[in-house]
Amino acid sequence: MTMRFNSILDSLEAYVPGEQPRDSKYLKLNTNECPYPPAPAVAEAILRGLREGTLNKYPDPISLDLRSAIAERLDVPIESILVGNGSDEVLRLICHALLWSGETIAMLYPTYVLYRTLAAMFGARCVEVDVSPPDYGIPERAFSVKSQIFFLANPNPPLGTLYPVEVIEEMVRAQPQRLVVVDEAYADFAGSTAISLVKRYPNLAVTRTFSKCYALAGLRVGFVVAAPELISQLYKLKDSYNVNRISQAAALAAWMARDYYAEIVRRICETRGRLVSELRGRGFDVPTSSGNFVFARRQDAASLYRALKERKILVRYFDARLLQDGVRITIGTDDEISALLQAIDELDGRV
Ligand SMILES: Cc1ncc(COP(=O)(O)O)c(C=O)c1O
Repeated sequence: MTMRFNSILDSLEAYVPGEQPRDSKYLKLNTNECPYPPAPAVAEAILRGLREGTLNKYPDPISLDLRSAIAERLDVPIESILVGNGSDEVLRLICHALLWSGETIAMLYPTYVLYRTLAAMFGARCVEVDVSPPDYGIPERAFSVKSQIFFLANPNPPLGTLYPVEVIEEMVRAQPQRLVVVDEAYADFAGSTAISLVKRYPNLAVTRTFSKCYALAGLRVGFVVAAPELISQLYKLKDSYNVNRISQAAALAAWMARDYYAEIVRRICETRGRLVSELRGRGFDVPTSSGNFVFARRQDAASLYRALKERKILVRYFDARLLQDGVRITIGTDDEISALLQAIDELDGRV
């Protein structure tokens, strides 16, 4: 007898994350990680955790200390927060709770295409609403399309478009029975959030991550803020010990180090401004980005990606509809961005 797999797997295309080369000589500008280290308090918290000698014990299953700190700062009840193993886990839990075969999710396109994979994992259909230049605004159809969930990354990668909170509120109000998930992985760089709406709208969930501005992509911590009715359903579905001890302690230390991270965000936004103007000066079309990345369009994008890779500089190239003429570049340190621009100039024959 052969094993029988879940039939969903017959047609499921796995999500392909950006390259993570083992060779550390690469300048990595491809997966929107933070180029700066986490706050010094994070290393101290990790060492303290190791010294306590408690790795033989399971972690707090409900990440209470971290959730309390998050709840206090965001001014939401602790029952409105669930911490996950990265925001990807939280997104998957939301799908698990709301999707079954034959259901539909909707999303803008281009966006973070994990949503499409998650829908497929739960047998749901995915409706994509294309955004168009010059402003990549949310089309009317996104307000009316029928779906169980609408995923809205804000800022929206890979372009980095930021949608105002009032527009998010209109999306939420448009269909009270549809859950709008606002994925705020990059919101720290935009200085805008829909979290204040959560108390008023039970059909809104906002997800956040420690992977980007908090420089903790390697530890996998994210969270969701939503009405307690939704959060309590997600608790039924999560792994008992979904966030390990070290990650909980590190994320708490990072959350408390506000000044340190404000400075990191300031620096990244400053470097982003410089990169955008330098790229535009080199013939790239670069839409305004509110994330820690920019999308740079030029005819030679595919060959540029390959040529940069040969020079050990990784940017992200998407061989996908509406994106083949550009590369997404993560904002690195000023020196890293200078190295990238120098490489582009050499390839362009300018130096
Ligand atoms: C829009 C968006 N949401 C979520 C994630 C995943 O975040 P995490 O590392 O918290 O799983 C990413 C990662 O690149 C992202 O771009």
